[in-house]
Amino acid sequence: MTTILGVETSCDETSAAVLEARGDAVTLRSLVILSQDVHRVFGGVVPEIASRAHLTAIVPVVARALGDARITVEALDAVAVTHAPGLVGALLVGLSFGKAYAFARGIPVVGVHHMEGHLFATALEHPDAVPPFTALLVSGGHTMLLDVEAWGRYRLLGATRDDAAGEAFDKVAKLLGLPYPGGPSLERLARAGTPERHRFTRPMLRANQRPDDPEYYDVSFSGLKTAVARWVEKHEGTVPVADVCASFQEAVVDVLTAKAVRAACERGMDVLLLGGGVAANSRLRALAEERCTAAGLTLRVPRPGLCTDNGAMVAALGAHLVAAGAKPSPLDLPADSSLPVTQVLVG
Ligand code: KG4
Ligand code: ZN
Repeated sequence: MTTILGVETSCDETSAAVLEARGDAVTLRSLVILSQDVHRVFGGVVPEIASRAHLTAIVPVVARALGDARITVEALDAVAVTHAPGLVGALLVGLSFGKAYAFARGIPVVGVHHMEGHLFATALEHPDAVPPFTALLVSGGHTMLLDVEAWGRYRLLGATRDDAAGEAFDKVAKLLGLPYPGGPSLERLARAGTPERHRFTRPMLRANQRPDDPEYYDVSFSGLKTAVARWVEKHEGTVPVADVCASFQEAVVDVLTAKAVRAACERGMDVLLLGGGVAANSRLRALAEERCTAAGLTLRVPRPGLCTDNGAMVAALGAHLVAAGAKPSPLDLPADSSLPVTQVLVG
């Protein structure tokens, strides 16, 4: 049995988890997630403040994760930590901590890719959520459709041409005056709204698209954000904000689910997996379920608390890498703000 500490500090969550692994069978022993509320004052994540908040939180968060798992540090066999992508200062806090912690205990440290980590969150609860599958990863910084033939073999089918899905939620929330974090605030209001109130054009989604169309799997949200801004300007004060939220949310989830289901069917997959913070969105989950059922696909999606950033997914990926015989990371492994997930492609 291997006991792994997972550490995640790539954006505005300081998180640590303890995981026990026997081969690929994993048991989550603890998970602590400290969301940095301080950014609420600024209406968005301020990188320098995020780094400082991680610095204050990292030691107590890890101590709490060990305590909740009822283990002491001597029981750890390895440390897994996110080294890319994300805010470089924020990444550096977790990465430096992970390296020092592992070095002091004489155990390996494994640097992991944050987006690859999101792929591993589902398997924590659904042991059958293993490749091959099609994955839709939707977070604050990324939106991508991946063909996952096996763990470590990721083919990028499509991505956003501009804003990530979470970024679009956050920007639209901000223009509507909703509090940070924007995505969850917008979803809460959308529940009381009528999505049929206004049908926004679905960016890059047309019925007659063919696989050789360059827009077949790609998405784009910045035009949609502008369309919301124009519509709000035009109808200032006369349209309930809840209806704007519901109409915008419907456009985003319509495009995302249509493209993801399209990709899974086209690639002959049986399973579609969702991951990343936006996968916590209940309308996205419901529409994905509906469309997967209609297409004969099985949908796998983590519980909302494991969709957003957390140390458990980092520990799960670390455990997999250790079991697969991956070499420990060198102590000079850098933090990388923009490493693409396909760069971890093996073979
Ligand atoms: O994966 P994640 O926690 O952090 C990154 O890796 O970026 O994703 C955060 C993003 C934010 O943009 C946040 O607004 C969005 O996910 N998000 C949501 C919801 N929960 C988080 N967007 C829509 N609906 C939600 N319920
Ligand atoms: Zn994330």
